[in-house]
Amino acid sequence: MKHTITAVRARQLWDSRGRPTVEAEIELAGGSIGRAMAPAGASRGAHEAIDLRDGGEAFGGYGVARATAAVNGAIAKALVGRDVRDQAGLDAVLEQLDGTPAFARLGANAAVSTSLAAVHAAAAAEGMPLWRYLADGRKVRVPLPEIQIFGGGAHAGRRTDVQDFMVMCPRAPTVRRAFEITADVYRAAGAIMEESGRLAGVADEGGWWPLFTSNEEALETLAHAIDRSGHKAGHDVFISLDVAANELSHDGGYRLPLDGAELTSEQIVDRVAVWTAKYPILSIEDPVSQDDMAGMALATERFGGTVQLIGDDFLVTNAERVRRAAENRACNAVLVKVNQAGTVSRAKAALDAARELGWSAIVSARSGETEDVSISHLSVGWDAGQLKVGSFTRSERMAKWNELLRIEEQMGSDAEYAGFGALPASVAAAHA
Ligand code: PGA
Ligand code: ZN
Repeated sequence: MKHTITAVRARQLWDSRGRPTVEAEIELAGGSIGRAMAPAGASRGAHEAIDLRDGGEAFGGYGVARATAAVNGAIAKALVGRDVRDQAGLDAVLEQLDGTPAFARLGANAAVSTSLAAVHAAAAAEGMPLWRYLADGRKVRVPLPEIQIFGGGAHAGRRTDVQDFMVMCPRAPTVRRAFEITADVYRAAGAIMEESGRLAGVADEGGWWPLFTSNEEALETLAHAIDRSGHKAGHDVFISLDVAANELSHDGGYRLPLDGAELTSEQIVDRVAVWTAKYPILSIEDPVSQDDMAGMALATERFGGTVQLIGDDFLVTNAERVRRAAENRACNAVLVKVNQAGTVSRAKAALDAARELGWSAIVSARSGETEDVSISHLSVGWDAGQLKVGSFTRSERMAKWNELLRIEEQMGSDAEYAGFGALPASVAAAHA
């Protein structure tokens, strides 16, 4: 049985912030090996699976000796001898072994690296690239990328309140062309920042680290950068924001220090609504905080017909939270971060729940990343339609964009770019 798991190992490696992370490796009787590394968030939701850290003095408390030991010990013992193709079964074993809903005991970093290593090993045993193994003969598309130009919030010393200022190129004919356009915008934005003395470096996900005096200045500058790149805002290039409003929560409301504003839930929705009316915004993530259902429902009512409204910290890649949001008419899209869920099967369940509702889905990286390119394959193999990886610089980001280009090449004449088709139907109709 070439698919039988013969060994499960983990090692401590390092992520893009120079913090320890877990790499898991699964070996099969046939000799195939699969490996994967856990990413790590900085602006995390309270309801996501737990990234287990050792605490204490060493490595600022970020050590992963306990998570690594869990893989090498209990997890290895439970998985050796099983058929690697039974992903649901393997993920269920991880859940049972942990016994808590959020992987508090083994650590979601142990679970996610193991779960992803299994799917890599299974694909390797079939001699297939991971995306093709996951597609399982179905027609799948090359995702529409969401790419950061300015980084703020928890990723850039809170230089802006809004965390990510990104661009999307749904009208491009191919992802290859979408990247070329984005590279032009990124360069133009950097030049504008440098000329105006507002460039302070590069943020955690590779976007420019800006010195702005208001959140709207970032939007204006981004629109200006699109113009200067020679592409057309609202036609070739659209703006996407991740407000990451969890980080702005304060005293039952929201505090935006850069704008000198203290806002209620209704007021922050108002403010974002004004931005969507004034700028070519196609997508907004987490305009309110993780438990503000009324605020998210209001945002969805106000602009969810024409703008993709993504729940990240709000939904934490949890199928149950997706369905509950839908019952409350909140959101029209889910962000899918495998490590928020803890396993590949749970992440896929959140994506499937969204799809059943007619929502869109975006497979996403974390701010702490590695050279691991699993998510490029998941976004294609699951036909998610969209991929969010951070900016267009730094190799932990570029590795994932570049992998998409290799996948596009492997698809040959079958390659189809998801473009506007990746968005909720009413949003696509409003802009296409
Ligand atoms: P995180 O942020 O990876 O730091 O949690 C990414 C996001 O909010 O999308
Ligand atoms: Zn987010």
